[in-house]
Amino acid sequence: MADTRKKKEILKISGGKPLQGVVKASGAKNSITKLLVASLLSDKRSTFYNVPCIGDVEVTVDLCKEIGMEVDWDKEGGVLQVQTKELRTSYIPQRFSGSNRIPILMIGALLGRTDEEIIVPTVGGCFLGPRPVDFHIDALQKLGASIEYRRMKREGAYFAHAHEGLKGTLITLPFPSVGATENTILAGVTARGTTVIKNAAIEPEIVELILYLQKLGACITLDVDRTIHIQGTRRFYEVEHTVIPDRIEAASWGMAAIATKGKVFVEGAQHQNMLTFLNRVREVGGGFQVKNNGIEFFYDGPLQGGIHLETDVHPGFMTDWQQPFVVLLTQASGTSVVHETVYENRFGYTETLVEMGADITLFRQCLGGKTCRFNSQAHAHSLIVNGTTTLRGAKITIPDLRAGFSYVMAATLAKEESIISGLTFLDRGYENLYSKLKALGANVERTTIEEAPLPIAETSLEEQFAVSFQ
Ligand code: EPU
Repeated sequence: MADTRKKKEILKISGGKPLQGVVKASGAKNSITKLLVASLLSDKRSTFYNVPCIGDVEVTVDLCKEIGMEVDWDKEGGVLQVQTKELRTSYIPQRFSGSNRIPILMIGALLGRTDEEIIVPTVGGCFLGPRPVDFHIDALQKLGASIEYRRMKREGAYFAHAHEGLKGTLITLPFPSVGATENTILAGVTARGTTVIKNAAIEPEIVELILYLQKLGACITLDVDRTIHIQGTRRFYEVEHTVIPDRIEAASWGMAAIATKGKVFVEGAQHQNMLTFLNRVREVGGGFQVKNNGIEFFYDGPLQGGIHLETDVHPGFMTDWQQPFVVLLTQASGTSVVHETVYENRFGYTETLVEMGADITLFRQCLGGKTCRFNSQAHAHSLIVNGTTTLRGAKITIPDLRAGFSYVMAATLAKEESIISGLTFLDRGYENLYSKLKALGANVERTTIEEAPLPIAETSLEEQFAVSFQ
């Protein structure tokens, strides 16, 4: 009889050792994935350097190949050459639904490139709350796109076209959403006239997108008041672009170094993109020194909590720095308050930290200075953490990417062994996490274990979708 037991990969970590050494911050996931989509605007070749070999880039490359992109990827060298001379299709298959947040950006990128209907499955990504795409859809519709959401049996898809072409207009975003800003910029590049986005996101990855698009042929300005002007164009050029280092990964290693009482030089960490983070590190007594080609993070004596930390859009404290920072606060004396204002549901991971010995309590109210848009809703989006606490090893299943790193960090602090599963989340966003951890001296092993057999799958989404089209 066939062996139906599934195998799964796990990390075994026995903590208590300071992380020491040098680690390189890889290219930013949240930049290269958008640049790949942006390259679809034109039929010209783009060459990207410093491309991380991570799951989200693999998925985005697959997605782009599906619609006609030719790809030459030197994974070792981190060089990715792409060119989409012609679109093969504008139907994004259902299998890409749920994989990441990229498919929805295809609408903005392809509206100016094809008269065919663009079909994009429901968008996925880490579960951090409902993560709607209403700002994207509203903005694209204001630019002249016709977009309809049609429900299939269980899943749905967006059907979009711009048969009359797109026309630049004023878009005011209700919130400076990263994805909605990107989608609107992409659509604005091929719209007639000028598109103005007010209350736009201005994250460094958005600035990178603008820089890339300028090389590609677009004329875009970014004002200090979150206003972006895009002048439509159809004239494009070949581009070479180096992906910025990942500021989330850089900060993650920095926090792990300080929490474990170690010393790690994060090669490539960019000072200008980590200003807010470094201020908070200094506030809790963590050590860092900005060098020419990176930032060294080190333990500089006992950490002091007693801070109030609020996540925010750039230039505020990133929501993706929040999870490892909470682990850092478990190692800082006193009571600290953390208020998550970007996502309503990004504290679920703390339950496992509490099981590991952390003293964390969640609150529905906005704790601290600012009242955010989640006030008086049922979401637990503030927390109080008391330190210092000794963390214990645990059996952990990773629920999302950034929670995943915080568990790895907590496991490097706990003396007992932790067994971490759900590694595909980590593989999506952290290049060579295991070998980097090992090189920094962590007591870590990546291995495969057998799982209990799973129940037989129902009809696949692919099948349902195909049936619904008939
Ligand atoms: N929002 C809406 N409607 C929309 C769009 C967003 O209500 O149409 C809300 C979201 O629900 C959320 C907030 O606005 O509460 C911010 O969402 P945003 O659109 O800015 O986020 P995103 O583009 O979906 C990107 C990153 C996230 C990062 C956020 C915030 C990518 C692929 N993802 O998501 O990164 O947390 O910006 O900076 O770029 C990660 O890398 O692990 C990650 C989750």
